[in-house]
Amino acid sequence: MLIDIIAGARPNFMKIAPIIEAIKKEKSEGKDIDYRLIHTGQHYDKNMSGSFFEELNIPMPDINLQIGSGTQATQAAGIMVAYEKILLDSPSDLCLVVGDVTSTMACSIAAKKLGIKVAHVEGGIRSFDITMPEEINRMLTDAITDYFFITSEVAKANLMKEGHGDEKIFFVGNTMIDTLLKNQERLRKPAIWDELGLAPKKYFVMTLHRPANVDEEQQLKSLMDEIINNSQGMDIVFPVHPRTAKMLKNLDIEAPNLHYVGPMGYLEFNYLVKHSFAVITDSGGITEETTVMGIPCMTLRDNTERPETITVGTNELVGTNPDNIAPAMKKLFSGNWEKGGIPMMWDGKTAPRIVKKIAELYSIV
Ligand code: UD1
Repeated sequence: MLIDIIAGARPNFMKIAPIIEAIKKEKSEGKDIDYRLIHTGQHYDKNMSGSFFEELNIPMPDINLQIGSGTQATQAAGIMVAYEKILLDSPSDLCLVVGDVTSTMACSIAAKKLGIKVAHVEGGIRSFDITMPEEINRMLTDAITDYFFITSEVAKANLMKEGHGDEKIFFVGNTMIDTLLKNQERLRKPAIWDELGLAPKKYFVMTLHRPANVDEEQQLKSLMDEIINNSQGMDIVFPVHPRTAKMLKNLDIEAPNLHYVGPMGYLEFNYLVKHSFAVITDSGGITEETTVMGIPCMTLRDNTERPETITVGTNELVGTNPDNIAPAMKKLFSGNWEKGGIPMMWDGKTAPRIVKKIAELYSIV
């Protein structure tokens, strides 16, 4: 059988790497299973895409749809047209999508309309915040998904409420954590470590890219001012996402302990996180990585689609109101942040479970 593996944006790449490896392993053992890696080109810079392929030893994509930047609809439409062409020329047996980016939704729709089954890795999670493009992507993808590979029991409950039968839902764990655990020993000190004279547990890592936080100047400025004012002068390393960089250009926010850097590679970014005092973020995936590494994580969102990072892990939702930042940072410095444990099945063996299940579903021998 031929599986299309879809990847488009930065948070997809660490999720597909172990799946490809697991397919290759089954193939090498003589199973009739193969993949075709399709990069939509939603992210295209070396530092948002290429470096992840190099560092995580992901094979070069078989096909690159080269969609590039654009509005939500421009990107989605471009991806659907381009992927449909590929499928019409040479159909696959299964379209496997991961996560919640525009590429996830666009490819699953194109495939499903041509009668190709869809598997969604990380299906079923919900923030219940329909203003997020990712929530729309998750709902639309799941509405037409045939096989759900889920990261938590909460995802199963969400899917069953939406009418999906549990024979389609497989609780397998988290492929992003497969990649994190596999690469623990390879994490690499970035050059800025020495340039800034960083010391373990003596700096923050910050990432911000959600439209709700970065698309409006005043909101971004208020958040950053509050963070700087409550940081007690501790270094803040801020790898800036391209979306945020555009907005920051006009704002001129400077502080002696605030260090802007460009988007970082996977191995260097996670080295920084692993040795940090705490992480301040509005990402979803990073809250899962901090949970597994046991690093306190302050999330500047009003909701999360990953509740186990809070109930089990080290994540706390601080919200998007800048007034919430001072008390949260005080709590961090007091040492009273939630200590946390590791969610079930986040054990580094998720991708082999997924591929074994697919082989079983397709009666592959
Ligand atoms: C996308 C995902 C989001 C994910 C994030 C991680 C959707 C709806 N959103 O948001 O879930 O958390 O990626 O990065 O799919 N740009 C570059 N170089 C690139 C890619 C993008 O400069 O390689 C610029 C684009 O021109 C655009 C901005 O960054 O102006 C945002 O990129 P876009 O793909 O639209 O969405 P993200 O905000 O990155």
